[in-house]
Amino acid sequence: TTTKNNTMMSYWTYFAKGIEYTLIITVTAVFFGFILGTLLSLMRLSENKLLHSIAVCYIEFIRGTPLMVQVMFVYFGVGAVIQSLPALVAGIIATALNSAAYIAEVIRSGIESIPAGQTEAARSLGMTQKDTYRYVVIPQALKNIWPALGNEFVTLIKESSIVSIIGVGDLMYQTQLVQSATYKGVMPLFIAMVIYFIMTFSLSKLLNLFERKLNHG
Ligand code: ARG
Repeated sequence: TTTKNNTMMSYWTYFAKGIEYTLIITVTAVFFGFILGTLLSLMRLSENKLLHSIAVCYIEFIRGTPLMVQVMFVYFGVGAVIQSLPALVAGIIATALNSAAYIAEVIRSGIESIPAGQTEAARSLGMTQKDTYRYVVIPQALKNIWPALGNEFVTLIKESSIVSIIGVGDLMYQTQLVQSATYKGVMPLFIAMVIYFIMTFSLSKLLNLFERKLNHG
């Protein structure tokens, strides 16, 4: 068993690189997903029928198709138009576009969870609609939105593993490299699982800490 462990130990740089890529993909996708998701949620809540419909179609379509297909579609589809599109860029674009649909719903439900009485009270006190949104609705909505955004982060750490199919060097991809190099099928997968779990578990704990601070402040 000593030999076995030594074999895996000597491949630690693969796993380290994989962790780095997985985190880069996740952070970037959540960041752009949040920007696009905010836009989509506002479009969906808007009175404008066209904007509303575009947002609904986008959100439903993205959530109703597999991320795996979306990743391949962006890589081969966009890659056909833009020559030599790096797999990493395609992977990040697809994951961000996917995440935006889920984040849009997180933000929408966060805003809709604020009772109409809050808005009515603010308006009857003479606040403008804009100020009501800014000082009454949004601050309360954020208390529901932050934790859900944290969950999306945890989800993407795991779900981003699908970008390995287009050759992005994330943790899952590196794990497969180690499998081929060592002729060992199970041990690399076990190590990958443990690493994924450490990442999601510690992030969840960290987010719980922030959440508790938020509820006291
Ligand atoms: N496996 C799911 C799918 O293919 C992943 C969805 C991504 N989820 C998310 N919250 N961004 O549809």
